Amino acid sequence: MPPTVHVRELTAEELTDAWTLGRFAFGSDPQPSPHATVAVPGMTRYGAFDDTGRLVGKAVDLHHHQWWSGRPVSAADVGGVAVAPEARGRGVAGALLSTLLRGAHDRSAAISALFPTVTAPYRACGWEATGVMRTVDMPAVALPRHRPAPHLTVRAGGPDDMPAVTALYERVARDRRGLLTRRGELFDHFAATDPLPFDGLTLVEHDGDLVGYAGWNRGRGYGADAVLTVEDVFATSADAARELVGVLASWHSVTPTLRLCLLDGDAVAAHLPLEAARDHERELWMHRPVDVTRAVRERGWPAHVRGHVDFALDDGLAEWNTGTWRLEVADGAAQLTRVSTEPALRLSVRGFALLYTGAATARSVADAGLLSCATGTDPHALDLLAAGGPAHLLDYF
Ligand SMILES: CC(C)(COP(=O)(O)OP(=O)(O)OC[C@H]1O[C@@H](n2cnc3c(N)ncnc32)[C@H](O)[C@@H]1OP(=O)(O)O)[C@@H](O)C(=O)NCCC(=O)NCCS
Repeated sequence: MPPTVHVRELTAEELTDAWTLGRFAFGSDPQPSPHATVAVPGMTRYGAFDDTGRLVGKAVDLHHHQWWSGRPVSAADVGGVAVAPEARGRGVAGALLSTLLRGAHDRSAAISALFPTVTAPYRACGWEATGVMRTVDMPAVALPRHRPAPHLTVRAGGPDDMPAVTALYERVARDRRGLLTRRGELFDHFAATDPLPFDGLTLVEHDGDLVGYAGWNRGRGYGADAVLTVEDVFATSADAARELVGVLASWHSVTPTLRLCLLDGDAVAAHLPLEAARDHERELWMHRPVDVTRAVRERGWPAHVRGHVDFALDDGLAEWNTGTWRLEVADGAAQLTRVSTEPALRLSVRGFALLYTGAATARSVADAGLLSCATGTDPHALDLLAAGGPAHLLDYF
C-alpha cells in the first residue's frame, strides 16, 4: 500500500527544509536567496509530509494575474515542485498539485500555468502543454544601424522611471493572452527589495512620454563569447522600435551576441532580422483551468466573435469543473452556464486547456483523444473556445 502523504501550507520554520529540497532537485546556489526562507506575500507554499512528519515534497502557488485580451485573469501559477528522491514515484507530486488546485480554487483563482521539467505528473493532474517560451541569440552585427531620430530622446533610466516602464509593458501586454500583469503583492515585494531589476535601462521618449525601453543585463567580458541579455524590450511605435534596435546594434563591438525573448509580431520583432535568430532556450509551458466559469468570465474575448456551444467537461481533479456547460460569447465577453442537455461533444480538462489558450483547434484536440464527438458531429463548434489566438508567456517562474 502506498504510504500516506499529508499536504498543508508550510510554516515559516519549515521554509529552510523546503529550500533544501528545492536545492537538491534543481541544483540551485548553495546559499538561499533572501526570499527563500522567509514568508513572502502573494504566494502560498505547500509541503507534503510522510507519516513520521518528515517533509518529502513542496510546491508553490504564485498569486499572479495574466492578461487575456484586455482583462486581468487571476492565476495560480505553479513553481518549485520538488519531491525528495527517496519519495518519488509514490504520488507525492499528485497529492501536492491536488491540494494546491483546491487552495487556488478557494482563493478564487481562475487559471494556472507552469513550466514543467517533465509533463507526465502535470498531465495526470489536468495541465496540458500549450506553448513554448523561446529565448533567442542574435548577432548584434546583424541588427540594422539607425541614425538617431531627432524627435525622439534616448536616455538611461533608473528606479524613478519604473512606473512609466511598467505602464508601457502593460500597454503592450494587456491585449495579448497569458502574459503576466507583473502587478500585485508578489511583484510589489520584489520591487521593494530590487527597485531596478536590470543592470541598465535604455529609454526612448517622445515629448517626455515613454515610447520604448530595453532593460538589459551586461554579463561579463567583451570577447567573442560576450552576451548582452535583454530582459525586456518593448516599444509602442515603429520609430521607437527602430531607435531601440539601433541602440542594441551599437553593442556589437563588445557583446557580439544579444540574447532576448521575442514577442511574436510586436513592434520590436517587426524591426529585427528574425532570420538571424538562433534558439538559445525553449521553455515549454503548460496551462490548466482552475475554475472554468471564472476562466471564461474574467477574460476578454474578441469583439467580433459571437456564438454558443454546449459541451460536457470531465475534470478528474477539480469536480467543480465537471458537468455539462453552455459557452456563450458575445460583445467581447463570455460566460459558462450549466445546462441539462446531453451534448454531442465531450471535452477533457486537458482539451479545454488546449482550446482556451488557442494552442489547438477542436479537430486536432479530437484527433489527440481529448475531445470525443458523437458519430456524425462536427467538432468545429468548439473552436469558439479558442477564439482570440494563441497565448504567450515571457516571464519564467
Ligand atoms: C517530477 C517530480 C516532482 C514528480 O514527483 P513524484 O512524487 O515522483 O510524482 P507522482 O508519484 O505524484 O507521479 C504523478 C504521475 O506522474 C508520473 N511521473 C512522475 N515522475 C515522472 C517522470 N520523471 N517521468 C515520467 N512520468 C513521471 C507518474 O508515473 C504518475 O503518473 P500516473 O498518475 O499516471 O501514475 C519528482 O520526480 C521530482 O521532484 N523530480 C525532481 C525535480 C523536478 O523535476 N521537479 C518538477 C519541476 S517542474
